[in-house]
Amino acid sequence: MISKVFRGHLKMRSLLSCLVILTSFVLAFPASRESQLQTKERVFPPRDWEIHSIAPSNHRIELKIGLPQPNFEILEKHLYEVSDPSHSRYGQHLSKEEVEALVAPHPESLELVTDWLASHGFGEQDMTRSPAQDWITVTVPVRLAEEMLDTTYYVWKHTASGESIVRTTSYSLPIHLHEHVDVIQPTTTFARLKSFKSTIHKLDKETGQIVEQSNTPIISASGVSVDPSCNTTVTVTCLKQLYNATDITPSANINNSFGITGYLDQFANFQDLQSFYAVQVPAAVNSSFAVLSVAGGQNNQSLSEAGDEADLDIEFGFGITFPINGTFFTTAGSPPFIPDLETPTDTNEPYTKWLDFILAQDEIPLVITTSYGDDEQTVPESFAKRACAGFAQLGARGVSLTFSSGDGGVGDGDSDPTTQTCFTNDGTNRTEFLPLFPASCPYVTAVGGTIHVPEVAVGFSGGGFSNFFARPAYQDAAVAAFLETFPNGTYAGLFNPNGRAFPDVAAQADNFQVVIGGETGLIGGTSAASPTFAGFVALLNDARLKAGLPSLGFLNPLFYSTAISGFNDITSGNAPGCGTEGFNATVGWDPVTGLGTPDVGKLVALVTSV
Ligand SMILES: *[C@@H]1O[C@H](CO)[C@@H](O)[C@H](O)[C@H]1NC(C)=O
Ligand SMILES: *[C@@H]1O[C@H](CO)[C@@H](O)[C@H](O)[C@H]1NC(C)=O
Ligand SMILES: *[C@@H]1O[C@H](CO)[C@@H](O)[C@H](O)[C@H]1NC(C)=O
Ligand SMILES: *[C@@H]1O[C@H](CO)[C@@H](O)[C@H](O)[C@H]1NC(C)=O
Ligand SMILES: *[C@@H]1O[C@H](CO)[C@@H](O)[C@H](O)[C@H]1NC(C)=O
Ligand SMILES: *[C@@H]1O[C@H](CO)[C@@H](O)[C@H](O)[C@H]1NC(C)=O
Ligand SMILES: *[C@@H]1O[C@H](CO)[C@@H](O)[C@H](O)[C@H]1NC(C)=O
Ligand SMILES: *[C@@H]1O[C@H](CO)[C@@H](O)[C@H](O)[C@H]1NC(C)=O
Ligand SMILES: *[C@@H]1O[C@H](CO)[C@@H](O)[C@H](O)[C@H]1NC(C)=O
Repeated sequence: MISKVFRGHLKMRSLLSCLVILTSFVLAFPASRESQLQTKERVFPPRDWEIHSIAPSNHRIELKIGLPQPNFEILEKHLYEVSDPSHSRYGQHLSKEEVEALVAPHPESLELVTDWLASHGFGEQDMTRSPAQDWITVTVPVRLAEEMLDTTYYVWKHTASGESIVRTTSYSLPIHLHEHVDVIQPTTTFARLKSFKSTIHKLDKETGQIVEQSNTPIISASGVSVDPSCNTTVTVTCLKQLYNATDITPSANINNSFGITGYLDQFANFQDLQSFYAVQVPAAVNSSFAVLSVAGGQNNQSLSEAGDEADLDIEFGFGITFPINGTFFTTAGSPPFIPDLETPTDTNEPYTKWLDFILAQDEIPLVITTSYGDDEQTVPESFAKRACAGFAQLGARGVSLTFSSGDGGVGDGDSDPTTQTCFTNDGTNRTEFLPLFPASCPYVTAVGGTIHVPEVAVGFSGGGFSNFFARPAYQDAAVAAFLETFPNGTYAGLFNPNGRAFPDVAAQADNFQVVIGGETGLIGGTSAASPTFAGFVALLNDARLKAGLPSLGFLNPLFYSTAISGFNDITSGNAPGCGTEGFNATVGWDPVTGLGTPDVGKLVALVTSV
């Protein structure tokens, strides 16, 4: 009797659930194409972030939905062909429209994602689409994002800096959408976008110089004579001497251009630039640069708001490239989030904002330098790959991108095993070297640092091997040669020998004499190396354009092949980190100074004959 009732009950339940499944299939699926939610991405929060509170439900976030780019491999093939000096298509860069066609999503992805957004009440007027249609942006209150993504957003606090962001560690999507969405942010990205400049050392106000002991010119690695003062105080003149560019005078060619990105409310100060020019580049006095605001980026010219990173970048970048047309991009983003304020706050990643902006432009500076980045593991792999794909698009259009390689050697810059902080973020909490992103993206040129004359690797120069990106073919020979001479078993398990290795190149990175907020001082970091290197690339483009050739575009395939002899190999020094002495600078490519520092004179000859 009891068992009979039990069986009957069982039958009822299974019939009921069959009915439920049937109705939801018949009613919901064909209409809104809803399907069951399933986890799309889950990350472990980085160790230096902790939950502060539940995110206010009215807080508005800008959800960016990245649709797959099914033809990206074709774009990559084009990128490598037009960037390979031995290929017949070298220099035949793609147009904006050609690139957009190659990253366009499949129509089915567009349709299904649009339907899903419509089922949550979004009309076309509520969405912003990128020119290639590969990104859709909607602004939503946290409570709606939580419903759409079946997740809970928290306010996370960065323990060291006190910065707060609204993030989650996992989110879900209807199963049928998983293959039609690459990434949705802001969800799981915990990157902080650090600027790679070290502490500023103020100079003696009276002299504005550090007193030099010797007056004998130093002979640099390339055999060029350099002022002795350059060993302790680096100026634009020093860099031109050191890199064999004193005889190279670029022209104000209307077709040439040079850009510098600025983030985190770092303002480039016009007055500081003039003070700097008066001392270091007198010919450039009264010349200026264009400021382009990205996503509402500010340009506060009050001297007290002058950014050390921004001023360093413009002074050396524009100082080296004068009179080439210069642009500074001021990108809004990462403002301090105030958890109890329910007003719209921007909490998205500034890189994607900048990429959205720049990829939509018809005219883009031919060389662009960026001195920001963060540990690769703070960026979800899906997101790093999309941002990196954005850099590939710029390369295909003939733009050269340089990024600082970081200021922590193989990770945190700490050689003491008892205090090092290089721990994986994958739940296992192992000690591992921490590569930097975007330096680890194979489509950018990562710039490490040197110091002194003759040059040696500077101890903080960031370098290593990506855990996300495989080693690209263009650096196979160079990196394999390094690994062959590398003591077998050293650092086993601490790095991924098959990953994209960086940096690619290097430049001076310490004791740069700058003017910031009206005061002269010395500053260092691979933040100094990237604008320096990029500045010389703009001079190479000047030579290319004068010879009637197209811009250099994506540099690495050229540097690792035809142009390899245009670098001064840096063979001493090392960059500690993660409780080790890190890698050594060696003969040939190494993960501290890459191929070395530029010999611009030689490079001009090399790049105008390909
Ligand atoms: C990881 O391990 C280190 C060293 O034992 C420790 O200091 C740290 O708190 C651990 N982090 C996590 C998230 O467990
Ligand atoms: C430059 O400075 C470094 C570090 O102090 C020193 O080792 C080197 O000898 C100096 N170079 C010259 C040419 O004086
Ligand atoms: C310089 O660049 C800015 C910004 O891209 C542009 O508006 C301007 O026309 C350029 N000037 C010259 C002389 O090329
Ligand atoms: C700039 O580019 C245009 C179009 O390619 C070309 O006609 C012109 O001669 C170039 N100007 C200079 C100064 O190189
Ligand atoms: C810069 O501009 C100021 C004011 O117009 C002028 O007095 C000065 O001679 C200019 N300097 C140069 C080097 O052009
Ligand atoms: C911008 O500069 C002005 C002075 O020119 C200053 O009063 C103001 O606080 C600054 N604004 C920001 C947002 O820093
Ligand atoms: C390093 O050791 C591994 C495993 O013993 C071996 O397969 C590899 O060939 C060695 N490499 C070198 C460069 O000696
Ligand atoms: C770096 O060079 C030093 C000195 O030659 C050597 O003792 C050390 O083993 C090298 N380290 C690595 C990781 O190659
Ligand atoms: C410097 O560049 C010139 C070309 O401008 C080249 O002939 C020379 O070999 C280079 N010097 C050194 C020392 O590399």
